[in-house]
Amino acid sequence: MGKLRVGVIFGGRSPEHEVSLLSAASVLRAIDRERFEVVPIGITREGKWLLTGDPMRVLAEGVVKDKGPRLALLADPEGRALVRLDQASEGRAPAEGGTGCGEGAAFERLDVIFPVLHGPYGEDGCVQGLLELAGIPYVGAGVLASAVGMDKAVMKALFVQRGLPVARHRVVLRSEVEAGEEGLVALLEREFGYPCFTKPAGMGSSVGVTKAHDREELRRGLAEACRYDRKVLVEEAISGRELECSVLGNRQPLASAVGEIVPGREFYDYRAKYRDEGTQLLVPAPIPERVASRVQELAVAAFLAIDCSGMARVDFFYRPQDEAVLVNEINTIPGFTAISMYPRLWAEAGLSMKELVTRLIELALERHADRARSLSVFQPPP
Ligand SMILES: Nc1ncnc2c1ncn2[C@@H]1O[C@H](COP(=O)(O)OP(=O)(O)O)[C@@H](O)[C@H]1O
Ligand SMILES: [Mg+2]
Repeated sequence: MGKLRVGVIFGGRSPEHEVSLLSAASVLRAIDRERFEVVPIGITREGKWLLTGDPMRVLAEGVVKDKGPRLALLADPEGRALVRLDQASEGRAPAEGGTGCGEGAAFERLDVIFPVLHGPYGEDGCVQGLLELAGIPYVGAGVLASAVGMDKAVMKALFVQRGLPVARHRVVLRSEVEAGEEGLVALLEREFGYPCFTKPAGMGSSVGVTKAHDREELRRGLAEACRYDRKVLVEEAISGRELECSVLGNRQPLASAVGEIVPGREFYDYRAKYRDEGTQLLVPAPIPERVASRVQELAVAAFLAIDCSGMARVDFFYRPQDEAVLVNEINTIPGFTAISMYPRLWAEAGLSMKELVTRLIELALERHADRARSLSVFQPPP
């Protein structure tokens, strides 16, 4: 059997564009070239899909530039291919490895896609929906779990429904904030006190997340979160430690070792995540064994609660005083940089980055095959 052609997609229309490039660089370095042939696909900030040349050069530039052949993914499962738009009208025969499913277009046939995209449009089910239509297996969560994982309001509602412990929170709409009612701020103040957190429902990497210590900061925090989403979460501040656990699998997911984040700043904000040398990642987390077990159990429960597949990193707060463990969030496309928690926790469990990427691709194929078993038209029972 020939090598599987794996499309690795990076960049995209998200504030996490750069982070995606860092993650993609480490996936591309790790992927097993004996088994997989890589097709690097960059998405510019404007949303153009391009066949990038040497991906490492593009990744080193820190942004997907608008150069290289343009690509389009057809919402048609016949080809399982990307069309090269630059050649589509030139009457060329299908490129080698093409599907031959059309005349005069060049195709990049793909067996599976690894979307290494963080944040809106990439991690939220949009790209996943396109890949479903195109009939191409892809790594990670499907449309539903991706969308839920990007919406902190719905995510928390599902966690609560499964009885998973979460911080007290309330969802506020931008329209309510913009109505400028004094009553809203007073209500939130009574409900959560200070400090409290405000965050956009659909973002990541701490973009738009603020800790408010007084009324003025709460007002500003709400306005800041509203810049990124029409839905905002206000939450009680948990004073405790931050733990993370990686999950891998489909129907019977496994939990990794538990890690701890020790931010070099007041909380784990964007700067602490990507700019600050002071942030420490402790693997494994120095916590009692029973707390680690609880975290692992909750990580798998959170994964199943949103009907996730492939991979996820589940993040927690741990309050040592009463040993409370609260689920903060689930990330369906966790950071994959060389120093990121997701691969590090698996490395701790003895799974190298190379093995991890292979496993994720296998899980993608497995999930796709399982979905293909479902009927999409009515058939009378046999
Ligand atoms: N309720 C909370 N109590 C204490 N710290 C919080 C709370 N919510 C968020 N934080 C801090 O803000 C960071 C980012 O918030 P999070 O909800 O994880 O959003 P993101 O999806 O952007 O990572 C967390 O890692 C933590 O440091
Ligand atoms: Mg987080």
